Amino acid sequence: MSQDNLLVVDSVTKRFGGLVAVNKVDIQLKKGEILGLIGPNGSGKTTLFNVISGLYSPDGGNITFKGENIGGLKPHKIARKGIGRTFQVVRPFGDMSVMDNIMVSGLFTAYKGKEKSKIEEHCHELLKVTNLEHRVDAEADSLSLAEKRRLEIARALALDPNLLLLDETMAGLTHTEVDEALKLLTRVKREYDLTIIVVEHIMRAIMSISERIVVLNEGRKIAEGTPKEVSENEEVLKAYIGRKAI
Ligand SMILES: Nc1ncnc2c1ncn2[C@@H]1O[C@H](COP(=O)(O)OP(=O)(O)O)[C@@H](O)[C@H]1O
Ligand SMILES: [Mg+2]
Repeated sequence: MSQDNLLVVDSVTKRFGGLVAVNKVDIQLKKGEILGLIGPNGSGKTTLFNVISGLYSPDGGNITFKGENIGGLKPHKIARKGIGRTFQVVRPFGDMSVMDNIMVSGLFTAYKGKEKSKIEEHCHELLKVTNLEHRVDAEADSLSLAEKRRLEIARALALDPNLLLLDETMAGLTHTEVDEALKLLTRVKREYDLTIIVVEHIMRAIMSISERIVVLNEGRKIAEGTPKEVSENEEVLKAYIGRKAI
């Protein structure tokens, strides 16, 4: 493993009964990179996130984060090591305020010896960064979809992660909202010194933000390269033909 790899996914497999949802997938991620992860519906993207973040244990292979094997650790342990994520289906605490939703994540960092006032300060900053300041006291359920997705990002950031896994945080957004989301990601990456894996179906978004793209199909990695290389790859084009638009 090269020294500057933040995350190494080494031949990781996850099965559900007879279905191999993730099949011997290898991914290396350098610190500071933005990696796009794409593939048709059901190709294993969310499952791979679930394995990396500890919701599922891998059935094979190794996951190394900051040089340490994290495969099979519980989600809260992995979160504490510095991996934050969003969920494809947003699930805030609906009857809690926007601020409280962010604080729930923020307080999780108290183990680092941070005082509550410092955590509150950080959460307030995240409210501003994600443009939710005007919604601070609103119930999370009352937010628009775009706001809920920004809240998901704020909650993930409140964990103080080094690696952020974003699962379709732009799905269902308007053209303008997607542009705003792209700007937000670029900004938080810089401000919080993040490394990011982005799963996204909106091709113009993934192509513009990713330095490198990994393509999954039926659980396997079928291609990897620059956005241009991947978009011209025969096997990638074949995988998408006859399927729902990517
Ligand atoms: N908890 C689960 N139990 C059984 N099958 C699952 C589960 N989660 C995902 N799958 C299956 O694994 C495959 C990959 O799903 P998923 O990772 O959600 O794909 P993607 O995010 O690329 O659309 C699909 O066939 C899906 O039905
Ligand atoms: Mg998915």
